[in-house]
Amino acid sequence: MQVLSVISTKGGVGKTTVAANLGAFMADAGLSVLLIDLDIQPTLSSYYKLRHVATSGIYELISTNETRLEYLVSHTTINNLHLIFSNDDKGQLNTLLLHAPDGRFRLKNLMAIFEPYYDVVIIDTQGARSILLEMAIVASTHLLSPITPEVLAAREFKRGTLQLIEDIQPLKHLGISIPIINMLINRVPSVSNNAKLIKTMLETLFQHDSNLCLPQTYIPAIEAYTKSPILAEPELKTFPQGNEAPRKMLRLNVRFDNPVPSKEGYEDRGGFWAEVELWHQDAEDWNKLYQKGMRVLVQGRMTYQEWDDKTTGEKRSAFKIEARDVGILPYRVLSVALEQKADKSQETAPPMEEPD
Ligand SMILES: Nc1ncnc2c1ncn2[C@@H]1O[C@H](COP(=O)(O)OP(=O)(O)OP(=O)(O)O)[C@@H](O)[C@H]1O
Ligand SMILES: [Mg+2]
Repeated sequence: MQVLSVISTKGGVGKTTVAANLGAFMADAGLSVLLIDLDIQPTLSSYYKLRHVATSGIYELISTNETRLEYLVSHTTINNLHLIFSNDDKGQLNTLLLHAPDGRFRLKNLMAIFEPYYDVVIIDTQGARSILLEMAIVASTHLLSPITPEVLAAREFKRGTLQLIEDIQPLKHLGISIPIINMLINRVPSVSNNAKLIKTMLETLFQHDSNLCLPQTYIPAIEAYTKSPILAEPELKTFPQGNEAPRKMLRLNVRFDNPVPSKEGYEDRGGFWAEVELWHQDAEDWNKLYQKGMRVLVQGRMTYQEWDDKTTGEKRSAFKIEARDVGILPYRVLSVALEQKADKSQETAPPMEEPD
């Protein structure tokens, strides 16, 4: 069984997002995955819908050594993805562990109870230095640390996370091996050269640190934009691919306005238009739904393109958004009709399942 902790002494760098997504990807790939939410703020605990909610959580596991999985482990609606939720809202575990003789080792010693059932345990941690964080590191076989591509984040990474790893190295004398940290650069904006520079700088800065492994990959920033109107009728493109069904793409011309409060209400400052590309097998059906003048909410990755104009030879450039989702907002929409579901039973909540 592999135990992976997602750690950083800095808050808001993407620990929970990475833990939740990695867990779901692994479960989807057929591995049996247990998520453990060690953060006082139970963000990971509420990331996925649960179809079985256990009576106990991390508090009982750590404080009373509750080892019966049927009381500890909740089940998400994703197959093979289970969760021990965070229920230490008063932050009592930190104090308890500080006074317990086995404080830092408690979780490591408890891992044996999960070993027969799980391929991977993923632990989400709090964005601050604490004994809970040290306990998670000691229990881990792998460490992953998201970092955002900013100078301040790099400084905090060195001062906080790397220093912490340095400080707990003496545990080696007790036979504990501290894994090296895999650094994962998260939220890289695809349009900013500055971000690319910082990424290179991070790689140069940390390349000789023996507690660190630089990643071969990074996660682009997913941006959401508000209430943007579609400027032209959508355009459907289909791309044949041999014997397989053609790939379909809907191109929307969207104005991303930036309304700023003013005396007269709102004025638009610095908005821009961009082509939004939505690749989906249902794009042909959706082509009838998206309309010129409709307001939408676009979520996706922004790319920036430069080219020479064929007639004038001038340099041209434009933003393009590769959308993950384009949500229709209700403004100016007069009516909505939903397709009838064939199987009515799907409309009710799934029945609760007993734990294994
Ligand atoms: N690649 C990304 N692109 C855009 N937004 C992101 C990305 N990764 C994370 N976020 C957003 O950044 C915010 C912080 O992420 P998250 O909660 O995962 O961080 P965290 O490190 O767990 O924070 P905390 O220290 O408070 O627990 C969230 O709103 C999340 O949706
Ligand atoms: Mg978090």
